Amino acid sequence: MPHGTALPWWVTGVAYQIYPRSFADSDGDGVGDLRGLVAHLDHVADLGADAVWVSPFFRSPMADFGYDVADFRDVDPLFGTLADADDLISRAHELGLRVVFDLVPNHTSSEHPWFRAARSSPRDPHRDWYVWRDPRPDGSPPNNWRAAFADEPAWTLDPASGQYYLHLFLPEQPDLDWNHPSVPAEIAGVMEFWMARGVDGFRCDVIHCIGKDPELPDAPDDLAGLPACLFDHGPGTMEQIRFLRRVVDGAPGERLLLGETYVFDRERIAGYLGDGDGLHLGFDIPALHAPWDAAAWRAEVASALELYPPRGGQPAWVLSNHDVPRHRTRYGTEARARAAAVLLLTVWGTPTVYAGEELGLEDAEVPPDRVVDPGGRDGCRAPLPWRRAAGHGWPAEPWLPFPPDARARSVEAQRDDPASMLEHYRRLLRLRRATPALHRGDLRLLDAPDGVLAYRRTADGADPVEVWINFTEQEVAGARPVGKWLGGTRVGPPEAGSPLGPDEARILSA
Ligand code: NOJ
Ligand code: MG
Repeated sequence: MPHGTALPWWVTGVAYQIYPRSFADSDGDGVGDLRGLVAHLDHVADLGADAVWVSPFFRSPMADFGYDVADFRDVDPLFGTLADADDLISRAHELGLRVVFDLVPNHTSSEHPWFRAARSSPRDPHRDWYVWRDPRPDGSPPNNWRAAFADEPAWTLDPASGQYYLHLFLPEQPDLDWNHPSVPAEIAGVMEFWMARGVDGFRCDVIHCIGKDPELPDAPDDLAGLPACLFDHGPGTMEQIRFLRRVVDGAPGERLLLGETYVFDRERIAGYLGDGDGLHLGFDIPALHAPWDAAAWRAEVASALELYPPRGGQPAWVLSNHDVPRHRTRYGTEARARAAAVLLLTVWGTPTVYAGEELGLEDAEVPPDRVVDPGGRDGCRAPLPWRRAAGHGWPAEPWLPFPPDARARSVEAQRDDPASMLEHYRRLLRLRRATPALHRGDLRLLDAPDGVLAYRRTADGADPVEVWINFTEQEVAGARPVGKWLGGTRVGPPEAGSPLGPDEARILSA
């Protein structure tokens, strides 16, 4: 690696998330696929990312667009073939990119052969691979948990047996019971299957949910209205994470265990990193939901510094993904999104970039007759515009409408335009890679005027770097960072000693 350090790639690197339905379509069915993805991987390498995380493309009835897996070891025909997945891995490796696949260990599709068998009879050996319970005496579900996406119980009655099964998400996504020893063993087999094909690690879907309390206690009143997936972080989770960690550690090379730790309690997320025996990275969900506000971000970074232990794990920062409105849309302006990119790519920890944020994409406006996701997440899943011309490089009308200004936002329109968001991301990624303090340094918060977040990053044997970010739309006269300008929201250096301009971020060698 060009970093010149012995640190693992996931400590110093940047991961780029691809939602394959929306990335690139090769066969003209309007849905992105693996061949389309492979054909556009050079975009990711050019951008300067270190790894791709690919959302699920496994066999699936697509009730949750692939997060309902019916065969963990095969590719859905919509996306291609197993040979295409192999091509994806080898092409990415040729380009110097690591490959992280999505592992969905908490649930399967209701069409998975395991669940079909489980449902066939209470005496079937697969029955206890899932969570079945008798109704309460009045016939109602076994506890008060709510499912995600619809305000419905997290339980569906199976009329044949008179028992309910648990699903934290859709009824088509029954939860596996990790208390049954065959479940971890099978999932380990899935991981080994993909690692043998060359995969460098896994992003583990709702990993906090796998260690369910067998008692399945009711949610307390204050949580009872929320989806249970937000607070079902049972006592067995850490032990199961340690088990998964041993599986990745058992394979040669540096394989990553990245957890989708979707809880709002940072201490809990940090806990899942263990003592170097848990997740390598956990998504920092509190910061994903923080507003664009200097004081709020200062508090998030301070708490992260305090809570994430220096023992071999760190946070994965995420501003956008396929589940929430894009930060360009949430924060409201292009200028803020440019400053946010500086924050994301210079803060301590591992940044993850969601395909399209480097184009400054906003969420698509999805008219009611084109809504497809039961969870209301279509807007952030709009297809990537590659080219200016109508169709934007998609051979047929895609499954969702394009985001606003797709022509001007296309890769073709932005490439080589120094003022574009795309070139801004490229410059930032290049700078980060070339600057040890930015990709492996410690972080210390600096005093700064209201509205400004400032921090200093230092690494042994390297020049310290300061980052100053103005979260406001006004110039801040009291913020006049000094030092050699390395980059930031401007295309070229500002006047030395000048105050931070509206929405401006500066990176300086200090
Ligand atoms: C989190 C995934 O990111 C989301 O897209 C999915 O719907 C749920 N987990 C259920 O798998
Ligand atoms: Mg296709």
